[in-house]
Parts: sequence; structure tokens; C-alpha cells
Amino acid sequence: MKITAVSALAISGAGVVAQDYNAPPPDLATLPALSLFETWRPRIHVLPPNGQIGDPCAHYNDPNTGLFHVGFLHNGTGIASVLTDDLVHYYDVNPNGNYSIVAGGPNDPVAVFDGSVIPSGVDGKPTLLYTSVSSLPIHWTLPYVRGSESQSLAVTYDGGKNFTKLQIPPVIPEPPAGLDVTGFRDPYVFQNVELDQSLDNAEGTWYTIISGGLHNIGPGMFLYQNTSPDYEQWQYLGEWFHEPANSTWGNGDWSKVFGYNWETSNVFGLDREGYSYTGSPFMTIAVESSYVPIQPSVSSLHAQLWAAGGLSTAEGENVEFVPNMVGVFDWGLSSYAAAGKLLPKSSQASTSSSAPDRFISYVWLTGDVFGGVVGFPAAQQGWQNTLLLPRELYVKTIPNVVNNILVQETGSWRVAANSTSTGDCVELETLGIDIARETYDAMTAAPSFTEPGRTLTTGGIIPFRRSPETRFFVLNAEITLTARAPNLQTGFQILASEFESTTIYYQFSNESIMINRYNTSAAALTTSGIDESPESGRLRLFDIMDTCGAHGGHKCGGNDVDKQPDHGSIGCKSNHTTDDDGSNSQLSGIGKKHIETLSLTIVVDNSVLEVYANSRFVLSTWVRPWYENSTEIRFFQNGEGEASFSNIRIADGLYDAYPDRSQ
Ligand SMILES: *[C@@H]1O[C@H](CO)[C@@H](O)[C@H](O)[C@H]1NC(C)=O
Ligand SMILES: *[C@@H]1O[C@H](CO)[C@@H](O)[C@H](O)[C@H]1NC(C)=O
Ligand SMILES: *[C@@H]1O[C@H](CO)[C@@H](O)[C@H](O)[C@H]1NC(C)=O
Ligand SMILES: *[C@@H]1O[C@H](CO)[C@@H](O)[C@H](O)[C@H]1NC(C)=O
Ligand SMILES: *[C@@H]1O[C@H](CO)[C@@H](O)[C@H](O)[C@H]1NC(C)=O
Ligand SMILES: *[C@@H]1O[C@H](CO)[C@@H](O)[C@H](O)[C@H]1NC(C)=O
Ligand SMILES: *[C@@H]1O[C@H](CO)[C@@H](O)[C@H](O)[C@H]1NC(C)=O
Ligand SMILES: *[C@@H]1O[C@H](CO)[C@@H](O)[C@H](O)[C@H]1NC(C)=O
Ligand SMILES: *[C@@H]1O[C@H](CO)[C@@H](O)[C@H](O)[C@H]1NC(C)=O
Repeated sequence: MKITAVSALAISGAGVVAQDYNAPPPDLATLPALSLFETWRPRIHVLPPNGQIGDPCAHYNDPNTGLFHVGFLHNGTGIASVLTDDLVHYYDVNPNGNYSIVAGGPNDPVAVFDGSVIPSGVDGKPTLLYTSVSSLPIHWTLPYVRGSESQSLAVTYDGGKNFTKLQIPPVIPEPPAGLDVTGFRDPYVFQNVELDQSLDNAEGTWYTIISGGLHNIGPGMFLYQNTSPDYEQWQYLGEWFHEPANSTWGNGDWSKVFGYNWETSNVFGLDREGYSYTGSPFMTIAVESSYVPIQPSVSSLHAQLWAAGGLSTAEGENVEFVPNMVGVFDWGLSSYAAAGKLLPKSSQASTSSSAPDRFISYVWLTGDVFGGVVGFPAAQQGWQNTLLLPRELYVKTIPNVVNNILVQETGSWRVAANSTSTGDCVELETLGIDIARETYDAMTAAPSFTEPGRTLTTGGIIPFRRSPETRFFVLNAEITLTARAPNLQTGFQILASEFESTTIYYQFSNESIMINRYNTSAAALTTSGIDESPESGRLRLFDIMDTCGAHGGHKCGGNDVDKQPDHGSIGCKSNHTTDDDGSNSQLSGIGKKHIETLSLTIVVDNSVLEVYANSRFVLSTWVRPWYENSTEIRFFQNGEGEASFSNIRIADGLYDAYPDRSQ
């Protein structure tokens, strides 16, 4: 469907106001309230019928119905939620998106913050452990008021419409004794086999981490275990994961910075299929005060990271989480507060799609608040922020990777345990991130067409033969790069016309996917608060050997150690490698190698742009073109180097995720 002035009609108190999207925009802040309600509103993302959406939280699969509940903070007042039986369509749990729990009890006179749900908890019912707030303000830069954040229980007896607060004091009333915390909130309940074993607990014991940190020391998570059948007793087990303030993993290239305080941390086990109670422990972590070199203000910056590792219990010490890879879960400057949950294979969605147990995570895309942009026409739009598409997470392997310096850096990957260390090839592991399969299938089931591939060797901008008619589309494409040309930038312009465009490209200079939003919206010329700052995130394209020897150890041998990244050469050009027997192997065959192909899925849901790459990179941001005909897609290339574009397909239109909401 084309966005027309007619479909963009908005009802406001002042009557029907039509915007003219073929004329230059006025100062949008001068328009009547709600006159921009439809202009940039997404169709398939989770957000309430109107008003503000905050952190995703309190998701659960209802064991009685198999329906998946996706919760979120709403209007700063309470938690509301939608439910889904297919990860495609969503239904408000309460009429008009009303709340399931609001502040106002003895434990939470001031606010309700994030919580998480034990699906079969008190009385066998879904049970929410949430942060009950009794005084504000709370911020890591301020002295901490002990007791301002406590953790309390609420239970639903009516399928999630209402979470009834237990008439008892908070079950975790304050931070551990003697600790000067920077924060103590967002309890995340989970089960984990390694914790059960190392603590000698019954299988399936519930644990919770509470996110925060310590003043003058650094961010961390506090670990507790449930010790009573009514979930009222929680025993403190120590600060199981913490990092020095303002420190980085490696040099920080692949994981930004650990900041000063953590929020909304999740813990979950993953294997190569998806979620597993016995899987390798992973976390998502929201970082307050991520340091970015170019930005002066430390307190407003945020980051959404992930970490994976193992547990260790030194003699007489508390159990500790020891990371072995850390990455960025979404590189967008407005991406934050990820929250996920086990979606079991018995759920309605997974029964239909034959999916295994999965961990499904939703990330919050804030307004432009973290960029410090003020003046967005919020009253004119009438809704603020959104959740990003559901992602399914798993241990992703990258096989046949040439074992050179690209691999050996401390980064967001690890060498799989079964790789042979003497081999020239290794198998890498990282966090796999895909759009949930049902969502992806529905998005790409829209009418689609292809664009012929082409190879570009010089700079230029070339329009597609055919572009989407809507601003609701998925663009899939692969880009093969034959050499690591330091000045090459290559990718696409989208949402383009002669007045506007947004450019998404890869550049080898710092191995980044960049989004140039400088010309993204003509409204930025008339209205303050339409953010145009660039976005970027790092994605390393490894050197891949076409065939590796048995056990992952193709022996290129010969005279040259292959410790440098491939610069486009074909064949083994490496210096000597020492074999297991200590001898230098001789050239035993020619292996062809190439730079890993860049595989892009670019989703545009009106103003929400999500760029997925190689099942392990996501960068999400806002794009707000004004002109009706800013829909063109173009090949983009800058600088010298060769790029081959292939498998280009556009699915146009997406779908309506809210069959029950009247517009
Ligand atoms: C796009 O719309 C603008 C404003 O109406 C118009 O000036 C321009 O010619 C249009 N471009 C094309 C290619 O139709
Ligand atoms: C949230 O705020 C918006 C805007 O004020 C309002 O229209 C909406 O009804 C509120 N949501 C709830 C559940 O009250
Ligand atoms: C919305 O929920 C709140 C809090 O539970 C409740 O007080 C209010 O009556 C509800 N509004 C409607 C229209 O049901
Ligand atoms: C919802 O729970 C609250 C206590 O948290 C209770 O006061 C209220 O009556 C409940 N509402 C409904 C409709 O059950
Ligand atoms: C944080 O670390 C960065 C990089 O090492 C450094 O430049 C900056 O000064 C540090 N910030 C503070 C407040 O210590
Ligand atoms: C913005 O668009 C204009 C006109 O097409 C172009 O000259 C300029 O280079 C663009 N700016 C950026 C930063 O891309
Ligand atoms: C990569 O370099 C560009 C400048 O070309 C810079 O704007 C961007 O922030 C860098 N990206 C990362 C992730 O460091
Ligand atoms: C490592 O183990 C996995 C799982 O058993 C297997 O699929 C993979 O092929 C192995 N990789 C290597 C390099 O042996
Ligand atoms: C390979 O080894 C030779 C002899 O030791 C050395 O001169 C040459 O620089 C090495 N080449 C590379 C790519 O490391």
C-alpha cells in the first residue's frame, strides 16, 4: 500500500488534518496534537496503542494457553502487555492497552520498574518478581538511598490481565549489607544447570540476578537463589559478575565499554539450536554511561551488550561468571534495555513452526533521548518509542575460518572448543541473532521482486530498476568483496528521492557498517529534534577457506605463516606452520580462500530501520523521511575497490500486526 495523503489523515481535537507530503514540511512542532500519528508509525513492531513505551520486561509463555506475553513499561505508570500465538500478530492483553500492574501499594508507592516472570510460580500461576520503588530520583551518579528499590512479588490469576500484589513486604528489601550500590533493580529470574551443579541445588532451582553496580568500583550483577516453595525467600550468593568502571573487553572495539551501572541484565543458556537449560551461559546487559570517544557527556550514553562465558567457583569463594566473549547486541545509539524469555517448543507459536526451545529477546528503541536531541514533535506524533523485532538467539558457528590475526584478537567471538589449535582453520563461535523465524517468514511473504546483481568497481550511485512502493519493506542482499580495500565504502541508499536519502554501507577502514542519516529527513531542516547523527557498528568479515582439512585443520603448509588477513589473494600464501610433530609441513594442496560474504537483511517499518548482517550483527535506528516519493533504493559505492551485489530481493508492504486495533 502506498502512503498517501489520504492514508496519512489524522484525527485531532482540531478535526481532520491532512499533511501534504509533496510539499516541503512546516516546523512540525507548530502542528496540532496527533496530526503526525500515522506519519512514521510502524506496522509490525511491538508498541502500545498510543503513548509511551519503555523497557520491555515481564515476558512469559503461559503454560496453560501456550500464548507468549510480551510486556513493557508504559507511560512511566506501570506494565502493560500484548500476547501472541505466532510472533506475527499481537493482541492487547487489556482493552486499549491498559496496565496489568501500576504503582501505588505499600511496597511501591512511587513506581513499578522492570520485572520478570516465573511461569509456574506461586499457586502454580505466572509470578512476577519486580522492582518496587519507594523514592525517587534514582541514578548511578547520585548517592544511593537504601530501600528506594526493593524486589516484590505479584501473581496473575486471570491470564495476565492483572498481576495482584502479594500482601507481604518486599522479598528482597534492599541491597546486600555493606555494599554502596549504584543501582539495584530489574530482577531477572532464570534456571541454569551449571549453577545447580556447582551449588548442589535441585535441578531447576530458580535464581535471580539484580542489575546495578558499586560506587567507585564498577557495574555488576547480584546473584540470589530461591530457597522456599512460595518464592518468598531469596538467598544472596554474591556479586557473580562485575567489571571495573569505564573498562572495556579487549580494546573495546567489539563491545563498546562496560560503563558505570548495569540495568535489565538477562541470563540464559544457549546451544546451537536455541535455548537450553544445559546450554552455555549467555547474558544481555544494558550499560549506563557507555563511553564514546567523540561525545563529551558520560552520563547520557547507553549501550546494549551481550556476554558469554563460564562459571567458576574457587575454593571457598562465591560462584562467578567469567566471560570469554563480549559483543554488542544492537549497535544503535537508541537501542537499550533488551529483555528476553524462553519460548518453549510447546508454545502455540513453536508448535506451528516446529521450532525448538528458543530464547526470544526484544530490544527497546528509545526516542532520541540518549543522543541528547531535544524538541521532537512528541505531542504531534502521540506515541513514543517502540520495541524492535523479536530476535531468536543461539550459538552461531563460523566454520573454516583462516586462523590469522583477525581471529586472534579479543573480540565478540571465541574459537570453538573442538577446533585444532595447530590447524590453519578454526571454527568460531559467537552469539547468533536472527529475526524470529515466524516474523521473518511473514515479512518476506509480502509481494516481492528481485533486482539483478551487479559488480561495481568505481564510485557511483545507481538506482534500482524497481523500488518498493511503500516504506514498509525488507531488502535482502549479499555483497562479496574481493579485497580489503581500505577506502572502499559500499552498500545501498534507501528511502531516497532528490531531497532525501539514508545510506547504509560497509567500510573496511574500521570494519564498520555505517548509516549516514545526514539527508534522511527534510523535516530536520524545519524542526529541531529530528536526529540526523550517523550510526555505526563493527562487523568483522573473516577470511574463509573453501575447504578445510579434517578436524578443521587444513594444512596450507609451505613457507609462509598465514598470520595476515587475506588481501584478495587466492591460494595458500602462508609462512611455515609447525605441525603437531614439530616439523614444518610442506605444501599439501591448494586451498582457496575468500573474504566472508556480507549478507544483509534491511528492514524498514516506516520510521524504524533495522540492519541485520551475517546472523550476528544488528544496528537499529530511526529514519523519518518526509516526501511521499522518498522510496527509491540505489546501489551506493564510494572509493576504490570491487564489490559484487547478488541475491537482491525486496518484499514490499510487510503486514498489519494488530488485527484487533482500530486505527
Ligand atoms: C518527488 O516529489 C517531489 C515533491 O512533490 C517532486 O518535486 C519531485 O519531482 C518528485 N520526484 C519524482 C522522481 O517524481
Ligand atoms: C498512555 O498515555 C497516552 C497519552 O497520554 C494515553 O493516550 C494512553 O491512554 C495511556 N495509556 C494508558 C494505558 O493509560
Ligand atoms: C486501567 O487500569 C487501571 C489500573 O489497573 C485501572 O485503575 C483502570 O480502571 C483501568 N481502566 C479501564 C478503562 O479499565
Ligand atoms: C488487581 O490487583 C490489585 C492488587 O494488586 C487489586 O487491588 C485489584 O482489585 C485487582 N483488579 C482486578 C480487576 O482483579
Ligand atoms: C573512560 O575511559 C576512556 C578511555 O580509556 C578515557 O578516555 C576516559 O577519560 C575515561 N573516563 C573517565 C570518566 O574516567
Ligand atoms: C546530502 O544530499 C546532498 C544532495 O544530494 C549531497 O550533496 C550531500 O553530499 C549529502 N550529504 C551527505 C552527508 O551525505
Ligand atoms: C568508523 O569510522 C567512522 C568514520 O569513517 C566513524 O564515524 C565511526 O564511528 C566508526 N565506527 C566505529 C564502530 O568505530
Ligand atoms: C565441532 O563440534 C560440532 C558439534 O559436535 C560439530 O558440528 C562441528 O563440526 C565440530 N567442528 C569441528 C571443527 O570439528
Ligand atoms: C615469510 O618468511 C620469510 C622468511 O622467514 C620472511 O622473509 C617473510 O617476510 C615471511 N612472510 C610473511 C608474509 O610473513
